[in-house]
Amino acid sequence: MEELVSLCKRRGFIYQTNEIYGGLQGLYDYGPLGVELKNNLKDSWWSSMVYERDDVEGLDSSILTHPYVLKYSGHEDTFTDPLVDCKDCKSRWRADHVKDGICPSCGSDKLTDPRPFNLMFKTNVGPVDDGSNFAYLRPETAQQIFTNFKNVIDSTSRTLPFGIAQMGKAFRNEITPRNFIFRVREFEQMELEFFVEPGTDEEWHNDWVKKRTEWWENQGIARDNLHIIDVPKEDLSHYSKKTVDIMYKFPHGVEELEGIANRTDFDIGSHTRHQNEFKINSKVIDNEHSVTKLAIQNKQTNEWVIPFVIEPSAGVDRGVLALLNEAFGIEKLDNGKERIVLSLKPHLSPIKAAVIPLKRNNNELVSKALDLKRMLQKLKLGRILLDNSGNIGKSYRRHDEIGTPICITVDFQTLEDETITIRDRDTMEQIRISIKEASNYLKKNILYEW
Ligand code: GAP
Repeated sequence: MEELVSLCKRRGFIYQTNEIYGGLQGLYDYGPLGVELKNNLKDSWWSSMVYERDDVEGLDSSILTHPYVLKYSGHEDTFTDPLVDCKDCKSRWRADHVKDGICPSCGSDKLTDPRPFNLMFKTNVGPVDDGSNFAYLRPETAQQIFTNFKNVIDSTSRTLPFGIAQMGKAFRNEITPRNFIFRVREFEQMELEFFVEPGTDEEWHNDWVKKRTEWWENQGIARDNLHIIDVPKEDLSHYSKKTVDIMYKFPHGVEELEGIANRTDFDIGSHTRHQNEFKINSKVIDNEHSVTKLAIQNKQTNEWVIPFVIEPSAGVDRGVLALLNEAFGIEKLDNGKERIVLSLKPHLSPIKAAVIPLKRNNNELVSKALDLKRMLQKLKLGRILLDNSGNIGKSYRRHDEIGTPICITVDFQTLEDETITIRDRDTMEQIRISIKEASNYLKKNILYEW
């Protein structure tokens, strides 16, 4: 993990937030390369969840959330972790992160009994700060999908089965954030709520576990590093009939990357008005505040149904960490030296290609390279960088380290015959092609590689 964290900072993937003031625990910023990698991962998810299907709609809802949403979802009562205090050094710990009843900070065995600690952040809304006008920062993106259920049906005429996808920030006041960006207090989720007819839920659940596992493999995660586990009954969330976790072999251990839950009819059943008009299977809190019927009509039977929900829910930050860990390698070269290489799949690479003039101060070379960069940038494959550092060897090493799949060198021969050198990150092989072929070469190798 240390090598990876160091690379992330050195090359501009991830920084500790507010570092100049000593930082804030459990919060990180994504630098110039990190933001590209993260966006590419999210684009890939959105493409597979929304564009490549015809039964999923997208949503981007607000982060500040009405307290009733999180009351009826069960978060106000149950979204807690067990907290213990050390009576000697006054530090606070998540009870299940403390080994053998010993304070990890000072070694004291004088710990309080565990008590529930709610992980939601609250903030004041509007100019009066008397505690009565507050909202929560959403602890998951899912709830606003449920509260928009009727809006989406009314505006799209969807029938079951169909899904609503959303990516975005979620906030949890984790007691002990740890392991770099693995457990943080502000993170992003990629969540799909897939609404199905009761009775078809188990089949859909299996289907989504398979699809999501394949998707992670397509992002470049080795199947052997993914562990698919059934969450034991006693660990299931209050809404879940069954949850399957996709675990990844992170540098600190095998932990959850994505959870796929069968949330039954709990969510729509919780947020609908007139709950007693429907057959709701799960145990919901009596809702006295919802003003909207959240049900969908079966077009054949005309019956109003509260759908079951299958939810694949993945963490973007955990995805980034898994991808970086998977791609990071140190290779021994024939000349006895080593190179660091980040073998990201090209669709995820922060920079798709670097165009490098052989000599830094040569106007003709630099101008030719700039023309080429502009031409390739127009393909809209992602970032094409003009790397005018003037040292080809160093540029190649730097681009290996940040995962750029293709380096293109513009040299004196280019000025004569309009050819360029293409260097492949993984094989380090070089070929010469004409500038005319460059667009197709890039499209073939960046777009269609996976
Ligand atoms: N809507 C269901 C839900 O939020 P979850 O298992 O609590 O379920 C889903 O979270 C995913 O969000 C996790 O699999 C993980 O990838 C990510 N996640 C949860 N808490 C996180 C944290 N504190 N830091 C980073 N990622 C987190």
